[in-house]
Amino acid sequence: MKARDRFDASFQEQLTELFESRRDVRSFRSDPVPDDLVAELVDLTRFSPSVGYSQPWRFVRVDAQARREAVTASFQRASAAAQATYSGEDAALYARLKLAGFREAPVHLAVFCDESTDTGKGLGAKSMPETRAYSTTMAIYTLWLAARARGIGLGWISILEPDVVERTLEVPEGWRFIAYLCLGYPASYEKTPELLRVGWERFDSRSTQLTIR
Ligand SMILES: Cc1cc2nc3c(=O)[nH]c(=O)nc-3n(C[C@H](O)[C@H](O)[C@H](O)COP(=O)(O)O)c2cc1C
Repeated sequence: MKARDRFDASFQEQLTELFESRRDVRSFRSDPVPDDLVAELVDLTRFSPSVGYSQPWRFVRVDAQARREAVTASFQRASAAAQATYSGEDAALYARLKLAGFREAPVHLAVFCDESTDTGKGLGAKSMPETRAYSTTMAIYTLWLAARARGIGLGWISILEPDVVERTLEVPEGWRFIAYLCLGYPASYEKTPELLRVGWERFDSRSTQLTIR
C-alpha cells in the first residue's frame, strides 16, 4: 500500500512543537498510566528504523519492587562514582541535580539490544555491529515522542551499572543494556531542558550545527 506523499502544514507545525516540547522528565505525578497505553507505546516502536530490519530492541517492564530497588541502588552507586569525578562548582551543582525519578514514576521500562538476533541476517551489522544499538535508540526516540504526544513524560537513566541491571532483570545472554526509562505524567510540562534551566549547561543546541564541505 502506498503512503501519502506529504502531511499538511498544520500537522508539520504540531510535529515541530512535539519535537520542541519533548523533555527528559525526572519529576512525575503519582497517577498511574493505564497498562494498555504503555503497551501501545511499546507497540509503536515497531515503526522505528533498524539496521537490516533487525528490530533488535527488547523492552522489559520492571514492576517487581525488589528489582526496582536493586536498580535504584545501582543508580546511587554509579551516581556517587560520577559525582566524585567533578570538583568545585560542578561538584556542588551535581549534588543538586535530580537525575532520575525512580520513586515517583509509575512505569519502569528497561531497554536492551539483542546483539545475537538473526533477524536481518546481519545486513549492515556485520561491518558495524554497533548499528544494532543505534537502532535500539531509534526505537526509544519513537516511544519518547509517542509518549509526549499523549501527555506522558519519559526520563532516560544511564547512570547505572549495566552488568547489575542485566543480572537484576535476568535477561537472556546476548542482550546488552541500553537504557532505563521512567514514565509517568510529568509534574510540569517544560519548554526548556532541565540541565539548561539549572545552569549545568549553557549551550543551547537550538543553534543547529551543520557543516558543509
Ligand atoms: C543516551 C542518554 C542518556 C541519558 N541519561 C540521563 C540520565 O542518566 N539522567 C538524566 O537525568 N538524564 C539523562 N538523559 C537526558 C538528558 O540529560 C536530556 O535529554 C538533555 O539534558 C536534554 O534535555 P531534554 O531531553 O529535556 O531536551 C539522557 C539522555 C540520553 C539521550
